[in-house]
Amino acid sequence: MSDFLVKRDDLRECRVVESEPPEVGEGQALLGVASFGLTANNITYAVMGEAMSYWEFFPAEDGWGRVPMWGFAEVERSEAAGVTPGTRVYGYLPPSSHLLVQPVDPGEGGFVDGAPHRAALPSAYHRYAATGADPFYRPDTEDIQMLLRPLFFTSFLIDDQLADEGLVDRGPIVISSASSKTALAAAFLLARRESVELIGLTSARSAKFVAGLGVYDRCVAYEEIGSLDRGPATFVDIAGDAAVRMAVHSHFSEDLVHSMAVGVTHWEQFGPGEGELPGPTPTFFFAPDRVTKRSSDWGPAELERRVADAWHPFCSWIGSWLEVRHGSGFEALRHTYLEVLHGRVPPREAHVIGL
Ligand SMILES: NC(=O)c1ccc[n+]([C@@H]2O[C@H](COP(=O)([O-])OP(=O)(O)OC[C@H]3O[C@@H](n4cnc5c(N)ncnc54)[C@H](OP(=O)(O)O)[C@@H]3O)[C@@H](O)[C@H]2O)c1
Repeated sequence: MSDFLVKRDDLRECRVVESEPPEVGEGQALLGVASFGLTANNITYAVMGEAMSYWEFFPAEDGWGRVPMWGFAEVERSEAAGVTPGTRVYGYLPPSSHLLVQPVDPGEGGFVDGAPHRAALPSAYHRYAATGADPFYRPDTEDIQMLLRPLFFTSFLIDDQLADEGLVDRGPIVISSASSKTALAAAFLLARRESVELIGLTSARSAKFVAGLGVYDRCVAYEEIGSLDRGPATFVDIAGDAAVRMAVHSHFSEDLVHSMAVGVTHWEQFGPGEGELPGPTPTFFFAPDRVTKRSSDWGPAELERRVADAWHPFCSWIGSWLEVRHGSGFEALRHTYLEVLHGRVPPREAHVIGL
């Protein structure tokens, strides 16, 4: 068994440790981790590991953590009724060769990990979907699924919430870290709504590329926030950068209708910042909470159907330009983790690691 560990209080420090594979007890199954995507989203799991309990999903030795990933695994051994070796599943995985799970509710669609240490954590992360019965799955879009499915789900919920709360009709939607996959997916969905004006804020190095994708009406570098027209606007903050937040809030001030705190891609600039923030207090957006709300409004199956319907056109669009880089093994994982951590992955690219 191999595990990729990150030091919790210094995310730049990482190492691989070897141990004996776990015993598979009654009611348990052993998954062999096959591959996963690695984007800024995974870095945010580490940045928020303590505050939002992300370290609790896949425990590690004291002071170290296993950064959660989204990807595919195969059931290698099973002592759980209804879970068959050879089944391929998609779900939340550790950066490890194996994961021991305690399947509950197994069926054609997969199962839920009922391991006691996960019980108090958000249920949106517990499901392992069998590829054979998954409406999102297509063999030719596995890479995009690993990289983008959870991000797209989030973007779907952001688009849905902005429309539900009437914010798409109250001035432009200004999105930070506009080059991130989450922002691009949200912009792709919002752009399909009539009369929404979308402004993407990004770093100067990415502005030309992002503008060329054509999903934002306007693309502006962080240094040029002052050039935006004043008036009502909504801020969707995916950068989490204290200086960018202050610049947007100061520019729109009391005209800012809503400020939605979604991400922390600029993790080194994250924090409350100095001085009082003009305009509305940012509201934290947490996708699993919105999943709970829409599952109760529409039913879980209807929510899944709506997201899957929107997913396939998005897959075709992003698949037409995204360059997926494939790495293999733990050394490739270590190298890629550090590239993503330090923001060295151009927005045109994304990384998938096979173990
Ligand atoms: N709240 C929720 O429920 C929820 C759900 C899903 C995702 N999210 C969050 O959304 C964010 C987007 O994740 P993603 O996977 O879509 O990102 P991504 O595609 O990997 O995009 C990364 C982008 O972030 C910026 N960036 C990354 N590292 C940086 C660094 N070290 N320094 C400065 N800029 C850096 C760059 O954008 P710019 O140059 O454009 O700034 C870069 O293009 C993450 O924080 C993720 O956790 C939140």
